[in-house]
Amino acid sequence: MRKVYIEESTAFIGQQVIIEGWITHYRSSGKIHFVVLRDGTGVLQCVVKNPLQLLEGVDQLSELSQETAVQITGVLHSDSRAPLGVELEVQTVKVIGSSTNYPITPKEHGVDFLLEHRHLWVRSPRQAAILRIRAAIIHAIREFLDNHGFIVADPPVITPAAAEGSTTLFSLDYFDEHAYLSQSGQLYLEALAMALGRVYSFGPTFRAEKSKTRRHLMEFWMVEPEMAFCDFEENLVWQEQLIGYVLQYVLEEREQELKTIERDTERLRTVKPPFPRITYDEALERLGTRGFDLKWGEDLGAPHETALAEMFDRPVFVTHYPTALKAFYMQPDPNNSQVVLAADMLAPEGYGEIVGGSQRIHDFRLLEDRMRRNHLDPELYRWYTDLRRYGSVPHSGFGMGLERVVAWICGLDHVRETIPFPRTLNRVWP
Ligand code: 4AD
Ligand code: MG
Repeated sequence: MRKVYIEESTAFIGQQVIIEGWITHYRSSGKIHFVVLRDGTGVLQCVVKNPLQLLEGVDQLSELSQETAVQITGVLHSDSRAPLGVELEVQTVKVIGSSTNYPITPKEHGVDFLLEHRHLWVRSPRQAAILRIRAAIIHAIREFLDNHGFIVADPPVITPAAAEGSTTLFSLDYFDEHAYLSQSGQLYLEALAMALGRVYSFGPTFRAEKSKTRRHLMEFWMVEPEMAFCDFEENLVWQEQLIGYVLQYVLEEREQELKTIERDTERLRTVKPPFPRITYDEALERLGTRGFDLKWGEDLGAPHETALAEMFDRPVFVTHYPTALKAFYMQPDPNNSQVVLAADMLAPEGYGEIVGGSQRIHDFRLLEDRMRRNHLDPELYRWYTDLRRYGSVPHSGFGMGLERVVAWICGLDHVRETIPFPRTLNRVWP
């Protein structure tokens, strides 16, 4: 007899198969009993017509409580009412692992309770669907970059200095030295782009941000492409192409999961490149018409980003930010040294900044000057300035926050549901 995953069950209609999984619920109506089984790939309704002879290891079907792990044999029949169009007529049930008093019941639970039980919460259909969508997004990102000549290259996680700013570093003892968890692999990726042309990394990054918002995690995953001989405008094209590809892939490959989480996909279908571009100055003007009084030089906050995003039907780039608002390595605009060739991509529907990127300074003296003004220790960054000594070229790159993209595509209220075990300001357990 063949072992079959639920997602492939339609291909085995009429056949006797083995299916293994966990019971999500059990109900009986008179003589007929129904067991709903999930195995991670899907959910299957199983019909039990003659329970007493079928069971191994249990006395009664009703002992098959929520989350009992079972091996079921039976025959697959097509059934137009079932979600997958298929139903299993049960022949035998064998208990593999019992489960009593499973804490997460079908009733509503508060979010603190659920986070405390995150190790079990991930089994719920909604959470599992989100994680399957997350996996598809990761796959699409890698596929797009791999297919466009980007070489995956992994920067270190333990680093001697800040990449983005010293205020949000997690520090650790590194024998007799001090080290930090990486905030961004960018500086290393710049070195690797000079070796390999187009590179990317995809890994966890760490920010000790004392912000308790629906967009911030202390540990999040970032994809960071970096391209040699790439200017500011080309960098934006890579970003919009990547997002366009990811959306198309997820809409095609995760239709069922998007339905499970009740995502309205209409607003995702219209998202096709090119994306509109507005400068920081234009953003201030537009915000002014909506009653926001933001002075030149002040950063955009969450309400500003939401208001700007509402003006467009797809993500929007905000470009040319004041130099003082951005990191030390960004290339000044040749036409206006007060602003840098940086862009943030703001997602629709209030999800805020999902991508941050820029052209990097390639001139040695200019970089030295910027580092001095930012009080960075030249010795710690000597290897980085070396890149401007030996065949320096214009280059650009960006960082896309995976959890923010997952939150947007899934239409979630908070990034805590986008990652298997979220690290937030007040939670490092489980
Ligand atoms: O804008 P950020 O800070 O950019 C960088 O780190 C650059 N060095 C990236 C690069 O150019 N290679 O972060 C990039 C993205 C943000 O747009 C956001 O999507 C995400 O990372 N992000 C966070 N996501 C969740 N929680 C946080 N605390 C985040 N901080 C940034
Ligand atoms: Mg940013």
